[in-house]
This record gives sequence, structure tokens and C-alpha cells, in this order.
Amino acid sequence: MGTRRKIRLGAALHGVGGNISGWRHPDAVTDASVNFGLYKKWTQKAEEGKFDFVFVADGLYITEKSIPHFLNRFEPVTILSALAGVSSKIGLVGTLSTSYSEPFTVARQFASLDMISGGRAGWNVVTSPLEGSALNYGKTEQQHPSHSERYRIADEYLTVATGLWDSWEDDAFVRDKESGVFFDPAKMHALNHKGNYFSVKGPLNIARSRQGQPVIFQAGASETGKQFAAQWANAIFTGPETREEAKLYYDDVKGRAKALGRNPEEIVILPGIGPIIGSTTEEAERKYEELANLVSIDKALDFLGRFYEHHDFTQYPLDEPFPELGELGRNSFQSTTDRMKAWAKKEGLTLRQVALRVATPKPAFLGTPEAVADKLEHWFETGAADGFIVGSVTPKGLEEFVDRVVPILQRRGLFREEYEADTLRGNLGIPIPSNRYAAAATQA
Ligand SMILES: Cc1cc2nc3c(=O)[nH]c(=O)nc-3n(C[C@H](O)[C@H](O)[C@H](O)COP(=O)(O)O)c2cc1C
Repeated sequence: MGTRRKIRLGAALHGVGGNISGWRHPDAVTDASVNFGLYKKWTQKAEEGKFDFVFVADGLYITEKSIPHFLNRFEPVTILSALAGVSSKIGLVGTLSTSYSEPFTVARQFASLDMISGGRAGWNVVTSPLEGSALNYGKTEQQHPSHSERYRIADEYLTVATGLWDSWEDDAFVRDKESGVFFDPAKMHALNHKGNYFSVKGPLNIARSRQGQPVIFQAGASETGKQFAAQWANAIFTGPETREEAKLYYDDVKGRAKALGRNPEEIVILPGIGPIIGSTTEEAERKYEELANLVSIDKALDFLGRFYEHHDFTQYPLDEPFPELGELGRNSFQSTTDRMKAWAKKEGLTLRQVALRVATPKPAFLGTPEAVADKLEHWFETGAADGFIVGSVTPKGLEEFVDRVVPILQRRGLFREEYEADTLRGNLGIPIPSNRYAAAATQA
């Protein structure tokens, strides 16, 4: 009888918080987003909690209206390389854009992080929904690729990056001082890629790590995003509000992957959650109110605008129905804005209600540690999730989750007591991809 399926857990390291005004919370450390000591502490706490990975999000464009965490934060691969030196088992996952970078460089960066960490690297592949990113990479906003083109670029990009990662067969390096043979040229492979967006000869100047290739994460939920995830992702972040929504997404994407000939069990789907824990439900509710009350409607409108190409929502009456925006948002955070428009229409929400709901979302996971554990178990056991990526909406959110919820999940046999492996793939239960050239040679 195979081992019981276990919940997978990731911790989103969000500095002063993904909440607009979390930095004003009495417990918040106001420079958290650039405080290496704190990132080290959180990573070691998550490792103490036997988490699968820590995750560092990213974006390539800020304005004076951006939230504090986005204004001043570490570049993902840089901070993760430093965290590799102060951790030993936990995975290190960072966001990097395929719309504003070069595949040879990025393949090298993640292969290096993978080698430095002994096989614990993961790459959250995003296409940069923020239109202003173009302005930081020698383009005009009009030259920001369209939503569908960004995914076409990402598709070719991953073809190149995963091809480059196989440049060296695992036993290519002989390093025989006696004979003077450093490597076997027959086991070094150039890619010679010529495509619509990239032309990359290769080989990559770094070999594969112990996990073969870094783990590919993805977080797009539009039609194109889901098809891209089904094609490429080993692990997928989602943003559902309800178990039903999570289940629909889960079955949809795993179904697409199966149709593409992939084994759906080798794909891990992880809803993003921001649990708020209290010794009583009332205490947890109070914690939520305390945070929500820190957010002004002006700041909430600024945050809302970011999802709609930095649209200025102050031009609309606050307590009238959410404005009709047509296609606005569809070239940016497509699934995110589609969902907002759908709620606003279905529930007849005003602009104020939508802005506050987006800026201070009421977590689906709120209550006592037992109540939160019950809900995690329900989503997991009913096939709506393979695990969760835990964001800290309160300054001490991660510590509370590790100290008060993880032990319950472990007692119920739902979460590991000890790491099964010391690579990210090993702990996520995702196989090491064979080297395409070695595999071809074996077949031949
Ligand atoms: C948990 C989670 C983490 C995400 N992290 C990032 C990120 O770091 N950077 C980014 O640009 N987008 C991030 N996104 C947004 C997605 O990459 C994507 O842009 C968004 O879901 C819209 O995708 P779509 O246009 O395919 O619907 C994240 C989404 C989720 C649910």
C-alpha cells in the first residue's frame, strides 16, 4: 500500500507584508522587506516546521502608489542564494520574468542556485503582468507584449531554459588528473535553438544539480495561463477564494496535463492562503479587524489600480456600482481582474466594497489552530489542493502557523515529521527529469 499522500507547504516571504498597511502593525518590523536577518529567521522557522520551500515573489515596476513591500525589496535569486547558505533542507523558490530577461542568463542563475543549495531551487515563471515593466527595459508601454504573446514568449523561453539545463550529461565531467581528461566531449551538448523570440547556441556553462533541473512553478490562471501550467509546471500557485473554486481549478489543470500526456500526480497544486490564527475565533476576527482598520480607502484604490494597468479609480464615485471597465485588466492580471469584475456584477458591489475586499481580503482560513487545520484537511482530502503556500498577513503569521497548526497536521498524519529527502523534487515527490541526450543515447 503506497505511502499516504501528505500535504505540501510553502512559505511566502513577503517582508513587511502583502497587505498595504501591514507595516504599521505594532508587531511589524518596518524594514522587513530588506532585512536579511528576518528572511534568515523566517527561512529557518519554516525549515523547523518541515516546510517544502520558501517563496520570494517579484515585480519589475513600481510607482509612488506601490505598496511598501514592493517599493524596496530583495531581488529573488540574490536573496535565495544567501538563504541557501543558512538552510539545508528547505526549497528555495523565486520569481523571475520571461518577458524581461534572457533564457541563457536565467538558466544559469537557477542552475547556480540549484548547485549552491544541493538541489533545492525552484523558479516561479511569470510573464510580468505590469505594463510599466516595459519602461525599465528600453521599451514604451505600448511595446509591452500582449497577454497572449507574453505566454508565447514564455513557452519558447522554457523550451530554451530546460534544453540548456541538459547541456551536460550527469557523468560528463571525468576530472582525471592522471590522464588529463577533464570532461567527455561526447557528453556536452549545444542546443542550437533558433526560434521566433530567441536564438541560443549553448551549451550552458554549468552542469545539472542533484535534482537534475530546478523545479518549475507557475501562477497564471487565465485560459492561456492554465494551458501553459499544464504544459510546463511541476508546481502551481493559485488564488481561489473557496474550496469549490479551488477544486474546479485543480481538476481543470490536472485534466489538461493528462491530455498532454503528463502524469497529473507529478504536478503539485498549491492555493495561496493567508491564515489568521487565534486562541478563539473571536480573537482571530479581532486580529483581522485590527489589520483591516489600518487600510485607508485611498490606499485601497491605489492597490486596486495596479491590477488594471495602474488605472486611476479615484475618478469614480465610491459608493456607486463598480465601474464598467470593458477589456481593461485583461492584458495585465487577466484571471485576477476577470474574477473581480465577476464578483462585483454577481454581488452588486460598489467601488469601495471591491477596493477594500481586494486590499484586505478576509482569509478563508481564519480561526483557532484546530479550525484552520480542519479546513486545510478538508481542501486536501477532497482533492482541491495538494498543499498550500502560506503568506503571513499578520507579522507573526508564519511563526504561529509553524508552532500551532503544523503539530496538529503532523498528529493527524497529514504532514511530514521529518524531511523525506534533501532536494526540493525529493520532498515534493516530483521525479528527476532524465537528461534528454543521455536518454536518447540509451535508446539508440
Ligand atoms: C500565489 C501567487 C503568487 C504569485 N506571484 C507572482 C509574482 O511573484 N510575480 C508576478 O508578476 N505575478 C505573480 N502572481 C500572479 C501570476 O503570475 C499571474 O500574473 C496572474 O495570476 C495573472 O495570470 P493570468 O494573466 O494568466 O491570469 C502570483 C499569483 C499567485 C496566485
